[in-house]
Amino acid sequence: MILFMLITGLLAACSEAVSKPGVAPLIELNDGHTIPSLGLGTWLGFTKEGTTAPVKDDSVQKAVELAIDVGYRHIDTAAIYSTEEQVGAAIKKKIAEGVVAREDLFITSKLWNDRHAPEAVVPALRESLARLQLDYLDLYLIHWPVGQFENGTFDLTDYAETWKGMIDAKNRGLVKSIGVSNFNITQLQRLLSMTPVKPAVLQVEVNFNLQQSQLIEFCKMQNIAVVGYTPFGSLFHSKAAPDAPPPRTDEQALLRIADKYHKSVAQVALRYLIELGVIPIPKSVTPKRIRDNIEVFDFQLKRQEREVMKTYDRNYRTIAVTMWKDSPYYPF
Ligand SMILES: NC(=O)c1ccc[n+]([C@@H]2O[C@H](COP(=O)([O-])OP(=O)(O)OC[C@H]3O[C@@H](n4cnc5c(N)ncnc54)[C@H](OP(=O)(O)O)[C@@H]3O)[C@@H](O)[C@H]2O)c1
Ligand SMILES: *[C@@H]1O[C@H](CO)[C@@H](O)[C@H](O)[C@H]1NC(C)=O
Ligand SMILES: *[C@@H]1O[C@H](CO)[C@@H](O)[C@H](O)[C@H]1NC(C)=O
Repeated sequence: MILFMLITGLLAACSEAVSKPGVAPLIELNDGHTIPSLGLGTWLGFTKEGTTAPVKDDSVQKAVELAIDVGYRHIDTAAIYSTEEQVGAAIKKKIAEGVVAREDLFITSKLWNDRHAPEAVVPALRESLARLQLDYLDLYLIHWPVGQFENGTFDLTDYAETWKGMIDAKNRGLVKSIGVSNFNITQLQRLLSMTPVKPAVLQVEVNFNLQQSQLIEFCKMQNIAVVGYTPFGSLFHSKAAPDAPPPRTDEQALLRIADKYHKSVAQVALRYLIELGVIPIPKSVTPKRIRDNIEVFDFQLKRQEREVMKTYDRNYRTIAVTMWKDSPYYPF
C-alpha cells in the first residue's frame, strides 16, 4: 500500500498531465464552466439505410450506469439518438444510490436539424430535458449547421439565427454552456463575427484518419474546447469501411507502443487525441471496453510515438452525411 502510494505520488510529481486512473481531469471552458476531458458516447450508429439505429433494449442505460460507477462524469447524447430516456434513467438511479450528485455530472445533448427556427430551440431543449428527467443540461449543441424540415426539404434558416435561440436557452438557465457541432472554420468565423456569445465547445469528428489540425489550432486560438466524436474512426476491422485507410488494431507500430504501456491499441488511440488537446467521447455498451476507455490518464506518449501516429492523418471522414451536400450550409 505504502509502495503503491509512493509510486502514484512519484508519477504525479513527474508529470501534471498524468492523473489517477479512471478520473478524467476537468478542462475550463471559455464561459467559466468546466468539462471532464473524456466522456461516454451513446449513439448506436447507422443502419444500412443510413438512419440512426433503433434502440431495442436497455443496453445504453446499463452502459451509463456502469460508466458512472467506474468514474465517467461526462455523457454525450442527442435528441436524434433516441437514447436520452436511458441516459436519464441511469443518471436518476446513480443519484438515488448516492454514487454521484447532479453537479458532479456533465450532460450534453443536441438540437436536431428540424428545430432550427430560433423560437423552436427552447421547446426542443425542454423536450430533451423531460426525456432526460433533468432540469438543466451542462451543454447543448446545434447538432449540424444544416437545417432540414421533417418532410426532407432543407430549412434555410441561418445557423446564426438558431444560435440566438441557444443564447435564449442559456439565459433562461436551461443549460450552462452552449456550443456547435459539425461547423467548419468558415462557419465558426462567421458565427463569431455575428454574435456576442462565443460557443464554448465545437464537437467534430477526430481520429487517426482525421486529425483536424487546422480546426484544432483555430479553436485553441479562440479558446473553444474541441470534443472529438467517433474517436476510433476505422481502427476496428469490424467497423471499418472497405476503402478506409489504415491503421487497424493489428498495426505493428501501434501494438508495440500499446505493449510498452500495458495498454490496448484502442487506449493508445484515445490517449493520442487527449494529447492533441481533444476531449474524446468513445461509445461502448460493452462492460470491459467501458472500463478500459477511461483508463487513459495514467500514461503519456513520447514525441516519437506521436509522430508515428501523425502519419495516419488522411483527411478521411467516417461520418460525412453526403445526403445533405446540396444544402448551402453543408460543412464538409
Ligand atoms: N456530433 C455528431 O454529429 C456526432 C456524430 C457521431 C458520433 N457522435 C458522438 O460520439 C460518440 C462516439 O462516436 P461513435 O459512436 O460514432 O464511434 P466510436 O466511439 O469511435 O466507436 C464506437 C464503436 O467502437 C466499439 N468500441 C468501443 N470501445 C472499444 C474498445 N475499447 N475496443 C474495441 N471496440 C470498442 C463500440 O462497440 P460496443 O459498443 O459494441 O462495445 C462501437 O462499435 C457517439 O456515440 C456520439 O455520442 C456525435
Ligand atoms: C416541408 O415543410 C416545411 C415546413 O413545415 C414547409 O414550409 C414546406 O412547404 C414543406 N415542403 C414540402 C415539399 O412539402
Ligand atoms: C464551410 O461550409 C460552407 C457552407 O457549405 C462552405 O461554403 C465553405 O467553403 C466551407 N469552408 C471550409 C473551410 O470547408
